[in-house]
Amino acid sequence: MHCIAAEYNDFQRNVIMPSPPPAELVQRLTQHDQQHLLDSWDKLNPSEREVFLAQLSALDFAEIGSLLAETGTTSADEKPEARARRAAQPRKLVRLPNSPQEMAERHEASRQGEQLLADGKVGIILVAGGQGSRLGFDHPKGMFPIGPVSDNTLFQLLIEQAVARSRRAGVTIPYYVMTSDATHDETIEFFGQHEYFGLDESAVRFFRQGNMPAVDAGTGRLLLAAPGRLAISPDGHGGMLAALQQAQLLDDMRERGVEYLYYHQVDNPTAVVCDPVFLGFHVAHGSEMSTKVIAKRSAEERMGVVVDVDGQTQIIEYSDMPDDVAAMTDDSGELLHWAGSTAIHVFNRELLERLTGGELALPFHVAHKQVEFIDRDGQLQQPKEPNAYKFERFIFDALTHARGALVLEADRAAEFSPVKNASGADSPETSRRDMMALHAGWLRQAGATLPEGADVEISPLYALDADELQGKISAGTEFDGPVNLRE
Ligand code: UD1
Repeated sequence: MHCIAAEYNDFQRNVIMPSPPPAELVQRLTQHDQQHLLDSWDKLNPSEREVFLAQLSALDFAEIGSLLAETGTTSADEKPEARARRAAQPRKLVRLPNSPQEMAERHEASRQGEQLLADGKVGIILVAGGQGSRLGFDHPKGMFPIGPVSDNTLFQLLIEQAVARSRRAGVTIPYYVMTSDATHDETIEFFGQHEYFGLDESAVRFFRQGNMPAVDAGTGRLLLAAPGRLAISPDGHGGMLAALQQAQLLDDMRERGVEYLYYHQVDNPTAVVCDPVFLGFHVAHGSEMSTKVIAKRSAEERMGVVVDVDGQTQIIEYSDMPDDVAAMTDDSGELLHWAGSTAIHVFNRELLERLTGGELALPFHVAHKQVEFIDRDGQLQQPKEPNAYKFERFIFDALTHARGALVLEADRAAEFSPVKNASGADSPETSRRDMMALHAGWLRQAGATLPEGADVEISPLYALDADELQGKISAGTEFDGPVNLRE
């Protein structure tokens, strides 16, 4: 009997029932000129209808409408290009040390940062919603193998730093990992398979970012990826705020006593996770959000630049920067807007709380992109030119809400070699090369010798930096082949 009932339910779910869409929904869609979304309603089975209804009811048409209005010429808001023309160097800036006194200040910042870590006041946020598509890697980007000798993944190299920092600090540093629909399940499975790379499982919290619909650029109508399925994409790393709140992770941070969040992207294996110097300067300067920069290689390098506009520190994304402004130089011929954003930040937890409190919201950035969709005849269209608008929030816009925002300069060779492209600049090849050069430098600093061009990798679990390595390798140690120092 029970079995027959279950079969009947399955039958009901999979059979197309002639039930019209809810009248209130039809009215709402008609009001916003989106009634085309229901074209294929009759062909959907009950469970597909249920999923589609949930997708449609979550839409905020008023918000989408105002975003579309901004893509026209009538926007009241100032365009980023206009802001870029008034940009000046950031005022509150700590440059690379150039004197014994500046070295001493770094030292003191490092001591303070170590103390914050030991006091359990620091957590980590990793944004890992992206896939490795640009690398031809059809998985979460964090699963990309990058260790020059070990082939360890981006996830492993970054998380082993957190493990090593936790050990050094004598506390477990909580790790908040943002995923997207595309990366969520595979990421969690991967962490499980690798026993969380040595992190305490209870200290790792995954949270999934939201999505935004793609909108036809010509008509303002939402696109369908398939009958009963909107064309959607992740809402940008700025979606982190809503996602943290929804997963109640700001409460989790508060309960754990976390006051500062070290934030990083999944694509830079040389990022110094929980850098004590950065944390120390952040607190010493009374900053609510700090950001790390490096000197841009050239005006064309695709990095956001950190600037002050009308006295307000902010990041202007490379896509918003007019070429002539990016190329401006000062009297000595140096780039005026040299401060490239590494996308490494420190946030006060209280700032994140304020930003999720309801009164402040980060703006959406609009991108004109090619988006596949099904037309009104149900045919899949694959446009050759940009046909749609996508909307993303950028977390770095939080800078404009932060009190006392601080900018800290870092050394590119030691801290920034991301994996962005399959070949050429910022590729796996350059990232591995830079990691090996860095680690070979640490070994030579410790007095070891190794053949020119030898493959070298030092696991974070063996040594986090040159100083730690010095305590483990005695001067005069000779290496004669590939070096892979692990615990
Ligand atoms: C990014 C910065 C750029 C900075 C550069 C430094 C943005 C918009 N631009 O450029 O200013 O100079 O890094 O390397 O951030 N992500 C999500 N969810 C999303 C979108 C992105 O988790 O919805 C994550 C990705 O997994 C990745 C990171 O954010 O870890 C960077 O995103 P990406 O769009 O690749 O930015 P870039 O062009 O590399």
